[in-house]
Amino acid sequence: MSPLAGKRILLGVTGSIAAYKAVELARGLRRAGAEVQVVTTPGAREFVAPLTFQALTGRPLRCELFDPAAEAAMDHIELARWAEWVLVAPASADFLARIAQGLADDLLTTLCLATEAPLWVAPAMNRVMWRHPATQANIGVLRGRGVRVLGPDQGAQACGEEGPGRMLEAEAILRLLAGDGPLSGVSVLVTAGPTREPIDPVRFLSNRSSGRMGYALAAALAGLGAEVTLVSGPVALPSPPGVARVNVETALEMASVVEARAGDAAIFVAAAAVADYRPVHVPGHKIKKRDARRTLELTPNPDILATVAARPDAPFCLGFAAETRDLEANARSKLEAKGLDMIAANLVGGSEGGFESEDNALLVLWPGGRHEFPLLPKQALARRLADLLAVRFRAARGPEPDSGESDARD
Ligand code: PMT
Repeated sequence: MSPLAGKRILLGVTGSIAAYKAVELARGLRRAGAEVQVVTTPGAREFVAPLTFQALTGRPLRCELFDPAAEAAMDHIELARWAEWVLVAPASADFLARIAQGLADDLLTTLCLATEAPLWVAPAMNRVMWRHPATQANIGVLRGRGVRVLGPDQGAQACGEEGPGRMLEAEAILRLLAGDGPLSGVSVLVTAGPTREPIDPVRFLSNRSSGRMGYALAAALAGLGAEVTLVSGPVALPSPPGVARVNVETALEMASVVEARAGDAAIFVAAAAVADYRPVHVPGHKIKKRDARRTLELTPNPDILATVAARPDAPFCLGFAAETRDLEANARSKLEAKGLDMIAANLVGGSEGGFESEDNALLVLWPGGRHEFPLLPKQALARRLADLLAVRFRAARGPEPDSGESDARD
């Protein structure tokens, strides 16, 4: 039986083009056996006809705060008490701002203030609005109050732009709501981006990693329900929604943050391009150009991934291999040498894929298995890799007790 069966869910719908997805959501909730009461803001009715929701839920839609007929049936305080969960999907930037402020200027915001039920919001807006510091501050306030923020997703937007802000698909919201995402509640630690190894106060050694692959993977894993912490080298990317981010600069800093958190992680994903060496002597002043030649003495950095994989309480480890030739042979020897559960190998240094590029192709290996993903935008590729990782992780853990599952291995 679905964990949503019998739940009394108040589905709030605000004025956004994504309101059409709320229709699918209402249908999915009813199919799962939930009782659904739809409450819209006045703006939402511009996008979906009230009768559509009424027909799907079997309950008249509520919208007005001062509606004598509706209030006579169940006033807004009774409605706030009736709800076991409140889910607002889509939640517009304006709605998020109003509830962050504690405003109660229409029926939906009033209910959010008057209810003691857990509140879930699925933001939907243009990417610039989502990234605006005001929206991010409002999201921070709401999270701090225990509001669960679902998504948003990345990709093509109704306005023709590309980026974060799309409402999650109804199916993904239903999964997260039911707590049955393939990685629901699983704690995942991800490294991404390059490291910078100082030569002097103004120069460093680094590499071409943009962080795109690791960030896309962190977002995809959060989309499967995982609790993701992203340990990031210096990159110019916004944090993926729903992901906790820790910024580091050097390999030693990354190693120390990962070391401190690896014990709590069930999965470790090493997508960072960690500098293998760092300068031995780092003067406190800028090195002057005096000599015709200069030699930089380097010392090896710790191998973060190998160290995590060697722990007695090692999480499930997915490493990456960046190769310029002999992709499969080199990747398989890294898989074995570092004692990993999986490795995702990519060709770098060519004209397509790898570092900096928007696209990538991956050959994924694990003991006794392999899978090839063709050249794809990194976000789409990350979703496929996250799905495969979830399958391999569950297979490694074995069948859940009482799950009735026979064997998840493929
Ligand atoms: O960031 P993008 O521009 O999107 O590019 C993506 C990427 C090419 C950086 C990514 O897909 C990738 O391949 N990341 C790993 C790069 C790398 O350092 O590969 P490697 O073969 O040198 O290292 C093998 C593994 O050991 C990697 O998982 C790496 O994170 C890890 N490692 C390496 C050295 C070290 N000191 N500590 C480590 O943890």
